[in-house]
Amino acid sequence: EFEDVCEQTGVTLSRYCIELANRGIIDEDLSSIFNSIREAAKVISKLVNTAPLKQAELLGLQGEINVQGEDQKKLDVITNDVFKNALRYTGKMGTLASEEEDEPVDGARLWEGPDGESSEVIPVLSEEFADTGKYICVFDPLDGSSNVDAGIPVGTIFGVFQEPDPAECELPDDLSKGLSEDQQRCLAGTLQPGKSLVAAGYVLYSASTELVLTFGQGVVGFTLDSSIGEFVMTRPSIKIPARGKIYSCNQGNINEWDQPMRDYIEAIRKGEGESKKPYSLRYIGSMVGDIHRTLLYGGIFAYPADKKNQDGKLRLLYEGAPMSFIMEQAGGKAITGHSRVLDIPPVGVHQRVPVILGSAEDVDEQGPETAPES
Ligand code: AHG
Ligand code: MN
Ligand code: MN
Ligand code: MN
Repeated sequence: EFEDVCEQTGVTLSRYCIELANRGIIDEDLSSIFNSIREAAKVISKLVNTAPLKQAELLGLQGEINVQGEDQKKLDVITNDVFKNALRYTGKMGTLASEEEDEPVDGARLWEGPDGESSEVIPVLSEEFADTGKYICVFDPLDGSSNVDAGIPVGTIFGVFQEPDPAECELPDDLSKGLSEDQQRCLAGTLQPGKSLVAAGYVLYSASTELVLTFGQGVVGFTLDSSIGEFVMTRPSIKIPARGKIYSCNQGNINEWDQPMRDYIEAIRKGEGESKKPYSLRYIGSMVGDIHRTLLYGGIFAYPADKKNQDGKLRLLYEGAPMSFIMEQAGGKAITGHSRVLDIPPVGVHQRVPVILGSAEDVDEQGPETAPES
């Protein structure tokens, strides 16, 4: 029965993870974490695809402002709970950090905030799981959520770190002030540079539901086949073209960018760049959608620094770093305009970072040479 299903539908994500675990490429815990990410992705796909049919429950504003200062959508909150609890019930998580959580939360219970107020304890399946977590997941449960009421593609972005060993958990004084040992461990494990990621991926909820991931051995794409409720491998090895002819940015901000970025965009727009051909602008305002198209078609995606926001808009931990890991694994590049995104050590869970990523030749044309370290 199971073999028949695989034969008919190719390799499913479940089977892919089992095969990787059998070969020791990932361990059983990471395989189980991806099992929960797979389940959460299916639930969120259903929620996003049926939201207009349940507008009162699923669309519109939650009526809260999140730590980003954004008006939270109902689906920001709902998808955050879906993703957080799916991970928690693996019993394998040390710490979770989300765009929609003020502070990192630990795998079994909500982390008491720095000023000690306690949040409700989320029971895990059983107490002995409470502290087995050795993985950390950082995630953006609903990316592009301003688009969700209009049915424009949205996504989920996630990255997975291993907990550093306690010796490496020293935080700078200003970050460790007033935190208990446990809280320092949680925070130190969360604030890791993108180059320490052991896995990263995104889910695109669009005409199809695509799940793209990397374990550091290339980039693989799966498509949800809802007739069997499985993600089926549809792109065994994604490689971004060395150069594209699409640029993706919010050109409405062009007057806020620095001169080199303005000159670059004007040049490629007019066909005065290295390729001598005019580039097309494609931008939907959902990072996952814009980057998925960049990954498959080539070209460049940029959310650069601007006069008002020196660090741009996108968050390093759960947007910039996971997407840069995927981009480099697919043969592309990802820089801030000054350095490689994956080299940046976060000092805050929600810190922002300028992001210029995509085809290697396009990124090199735009910015300084930054060869990814091995
Ligand atoms: P999120 O919905 O998770 O807050 O992320 C929105 C981000 C990203 O998805 C997109 O690339 C960018 O915001 C669009 O920003 P602008 O609307 O300023 O172009
Ligand atoms: Mn948001
Ligand atoms: Mn986002
Ligand atoms: Mn989001």
